[in-house]
Amino acid sequence: MKALILSGGKGTRLRPLTYTGAKQLVPVANKPILWYGIEAIVAAGITNIGIIISPETGGEIQSQTGNGDRFGAKITYILQSEPAGLAHAVKIAQPFLQDSPFLMYLGDNLIESQLHDLLAKFLQKDLDALILLRKVDNPSSFGVATVDAQGKVLQLVEKPKNPASNLALVGVYLFSTAIHHAISNIQPSARGELEITDAIQFLLNNQKMVEAHQLEGWWLDTGKKDDLLAANHIILDSQLETDVKGEIDANSQIIGRVQIGTNSQIINSTIRGPAIIGENCYLENCFIGPYSSIGDRVTLIEADLEHSVILKNSKIVKIQQRIVDSVIGQRVQLTLAERRPKALRFMLGDDSQIELI
Ligand code: G1P
Repeated sequence: MKALILSGGKGTRLRPLTYTGAKQLVPVANKPILWYGIEAIVAAGITNIGIIISPETGGEIQSQTGNGDRFGAKITYILQSEPAGLAHAVKIAQPFLQDSPFLMYLGDNLIESQLHDLLAKFLQKDLDALILLRKVDNPSSFGVATVDAQGKVLQLVEKPKNPASNLALVGVYLFSTAIHHAISNIQPSARGELEITDAIQFLLNNQKMVEAHQLEGWWLDTGKKDDLLAANHIILDSQLETDVKGEIDANSQIIGRVQIGTNSQIINSTIRGPAIIGENCYLENCFIGPYSSIGDRVTLIEADLEHSVILKNSKIVKIQQRIVDSVIGQRVQLTLAERRPKALRFMLGDDSQIELI
């Protein structure tokens, strides 16, 4: 059994963060989203992993993620020179996959369920495809499945305007080698991509063994800001363990589950968990509320924030209002020049969003 993680794509829905970096490397609780997928795959016993990368962000993914040693896996990087669809990615991964069945995992998806049970079901029943479905409120944004009363899959449609059900295809799939023949028989969709959804439909049309498993636990497709904040919330809630390194002065208070990295300094501040603060941070006169993730080398002075994600090397100084539900990219500087500002002065990249509420 092998695994194929798809980590290409442009990440348009997470702009501006993704102008300068891969969406799969955006951190959730200070760890790249992609790494959660790798860890889940290794935990299910699969250690031979291929990662599809794009020319734009592949180098960064490769240099941060490495050859797999840190995960106890062997990672092979496969370059997809154009974003021509998920099924196209499988096609170009054929030399890596060879005649092995495989688990396919979209690098910006996070699911609560263990992959182990899904893998066991797939192997036990000798399936050609095991797909995961979950009820969603906005099925038009996903591949959508119609199933009968027994749970048998009848039809799959990619991003239908008028969805026939609210069951979305989750970005985790298990395939036998039959998928390769299916892919060689499909045509690009209206958006010009070879859709994996169409390849699975081909399997269905040809009486191959396709089953669906309906997910009950959470599923996050972190491609958008609110999903990213939701993922951060869930991971901090469910996985964060207290581990306080760094220096905390006598006037500071750490309440609840909090992680603070080495060489970070906390001065006259309150940190209420669950919250994570990276390495080499400097916090003075701050309140950091629950569900906050602060990356490495961040400086916060007189900052009051909660339910927010602050990426590496940013600086927030004396902003007098509470910062909530925010995602702040790398190297951002958010400062207050005077006590009572008469005006606001911005230097914002394309697609930035500022909301004064
Ligand atoms: C892809 C699949 C879609 C699936 C979704 C899950 O969509 O094409 O069927 O529901 O992932 O995240 P995309 O992210 O390419 O828009």
